[in-house]
Amino acid sequence: MSGNKRIDQPTGTETVGHEWDGIEELNTPLPRWWLWSFYACIAFAIGYCFLYPSVPGANGATGGLFKWSSRDQLQKELNARDAELNQVRQALVAADIHKLEGNEQLMQEAIAGGSAAFKVYCVQCHGAGAAGSKGYPNLNDDDWLWGGDLATIEKTITDGVRQPNHVETRYSQMPAFGKDGLLQPAQIEDVTSFVRVISHQEKPSASSRRGQPIFEANCAICHGPEGHGDRMQGAPNLADAIWLYGGDRASISQTIANSRFGVMPAWGLRLDKATIRMLAAYVHSLGGGEAMPAAEMAADMTAADVGAAQEGPVEEGNVGE
Ligand code: HEC
Ligand code: HEC
Repeated sequence: MSGNKRIDQPTGTETVGHEWDGIEELNTPLPRWWLWSFYACIAFAIGYCFLYPSVPGANGATGGLFKWSSRDQLQKELNARDAELNQVRQALVAADIHKLEGNEQLMQEAIAGGSAAFKVYCVQCHGAGAAGSKGYPNLNDDDWLWGGDLATIEKTITDGVRQPNHVETRYSQMPAFGKDGLLQPAQIEDVTSFVRVISHQEKPSASSRRGQPIFEANCAICHGPEGHGDRMQGAPNLADAIWLYGGDRASISQTIANSRFGVMPAWGLRLDKATIRMLAAYVHSLGGGEAMPAAEMAADMTAADVGAAQEGPVEEGNVGE
């Protein structure tokens, strides 16, 4: 290698003076377009530094002439979304629940909001897909303990089931027939057989025939003469294949002997009305939602209309029941 610069004859370009075994390095100038883009980038960077936050300092970066910050930007977007949501919430609370299903767009917004709220408040008990588990009902099917129309679902969510110290809560209590000595163990076995027969899990037997009158005397008042259940009391249908606590012999006789006492929190004590309405819309949309019963609807609407005329805005709680 030598330090001698010279002009390379064939190209007419200056060399940088490096040479390896006769191969020399030429000092080819940068193309113009490249240089100009390079200068443009520098100019842009300087301009950017003046306009936007850039140079880091002890208390954060320099602010820039535009006073822009990513935090403000996010806040602005959040505020816009909040305003949008607030409109939906207000519209939901103002809406007559009996006419809500007619308002498809509001219903869609409500279902979306309800789906999000469900993930926060309900999945612990009802499961991520609302499919439930032992003691916690599946909310996807059309088998309802208390009822599956929008207003009834809203009432259940608002006031809960067997929520202690809450007068409005849905309440019923199946007696503990074994524990409280209302039935003898043999009678419990027989009535268990009968329940297994009406749910098509066993063939009629001597035991189930003995169980039938026991059922009629002790159980029909809540579960109905054919075991189809009673929504007024949240008494499950015993004649279908859907079980809250289990349909095998052991689970059924357990239920009869000791009773159960499923508690569903009264969400009206914790969540605002719009959120509850969203949750009701979501649960209603899961597959088992029922139409509002026509007669009740008419009665409710007159009651609601009278109420609205007297008190102005609809009050918290108790809508539709
Ligand atoms: C602590 C557990 C728990 C949580 C949390 C919970 N539930 Fe329940 N839920 C229950 C139980 C238990 C029942 C059944 C009560 C009964 O025996 O009647 C129930 C029943 C219901 C019913 C009535 C179903 C029917 O067949 O009539 C609805 C609707 C419902 N839950 C919705 C919700 C919603 C919406 C949320 C979230 C805001 C929620 N639940 C959170 C335990 C829970
Ligand atoms: C006062 C009303 C009432 C009476 C009387 C009653 N039950 Fe119940 N039963 C209920 C309620 C309410 C439930 C739901 C239990 C819960 O979640 O706490 C239930 C639940 C059950 C279940 C569980 C169903 C499931 O899906 O897992 C069985 C089985 C049952 N009852 C059988 C009987 C039999 C048999 C009798 C008579 C010996 C009887 N019940 C009497 C109200 C009643």
